[in-house]
Amino acid sequence: METQLKGKDFITLEEWTKDEIDTLLEVSFDLKKKFAMGVPTPYLRDKTAFLMFFEQSTRTRNSMEAGLAQLGGHANFLDTSTMQVSHGEVAKDTGIILGSYGHGLACRNCVWEVGNKYLRSLAEHAKVPVMNLQCDLYHPMQGIADLMTIIEKKKAKSNLKVSIIWAYATSHKKPISVPLTQTLLFPRYGMDVTLAYPEGYEMPDWVIEKARKNAEANNGQFKITHDQDEAYRDADIVIPKNWGSWVSNQADDVIDDLLEANKDWKCTEERMALADDDVMYMHALPADRGNEVEDSVIDGPHSIVYTEAENRLHTAKAVMTLNMGGK
Ligand code: CP
Repeated sequence: METQLKGKDFITLEEWTKDEIDTLLEVSFDLKKKFAMGVPTPYLRDKTAFLMFFEQSTRTRNSMEAGLAQLGGHANFLDTSTMQVSHGEVAKDTGIILGSYGHGLACRNCVWEVGNKYLRSLAEHAKVPVMNLQCDLYHPMQGIADLMTIIEKKKAKSNLKVSIIWAYATSHKKPISVPLTQTLLFPRYGMDVTLAYPEGYEMPDWVIEKARKNAEANNGQFKITHDQDEAYRDADIVIPKNWGSWVSNQADDVIDDLLEANKDWKCTEERMALADDDVMYMHALPADRGNEVEDSVIDGPHSIVYTEAENRLHTAKAVMTLNMGGK
């Protein structure tokens, strides 16, 4: 068990070893049990984290705010449109100053080709751990909660057929960070991962190369298909979710010809019937109901989306306990 995590940035799980991730999972399960039992967990008493949001959030913001309160500390929510960053203040100055006021600095910035660089600049200059609340490339808070949920529900990690499937949505042009994080993380745990999408919704080449290496090194498997039925067939876990065509098209338009040509990429009861009898349906939420998924699936017996969302609280608390607290 790797326990020397005080001060460690949480920008991508690729920079956390499996031993470190296993520690995170153990602490998450312990915090979940203690929360259920009403056992106090004041591991971060009098500590402060700053939460900068360039975009909207329900789960990430509230799991961090409630989580830090439950750990005895305080999370300071910052809407960046009310900060001097909106007048051009640079990440270096924001990082140094907010870092000097507290014990952790967290940020969501999903702007394509900007977000991750912004997080890296905060981390370079802040003297406290920087936590990624989602950027253009990674969503490690979602990734660790998804891994916890799979282990909790399936009791095992390896040899599971997990399908990450593009789905049609019109709500906004979503980042690629959730499927990218899952694509890199799950093969590290020996899962048999299928990435399915219509042509035009590719992940960056370096992600595919790294996912293949992660699979090879950990007895996992990784494959790509453009046939969604193939991805559903015999799957233990399906994760149908929309992402934007950012790699090939950087325009902000939500609806375009490519999107409209792929309306059929929807999670339906018919497709769920192709999967294993005990298949589980996951989604990071918010879901574009009726477009990405039929209500009868997301509200049905195979759906574990509310456990997945609840685990965001326990995993966020584990991250903060280990990198803001500890020895
Ligand atoms: N899944 C997720 O990150 O949700 P929010 O956008 O509501 O934080």
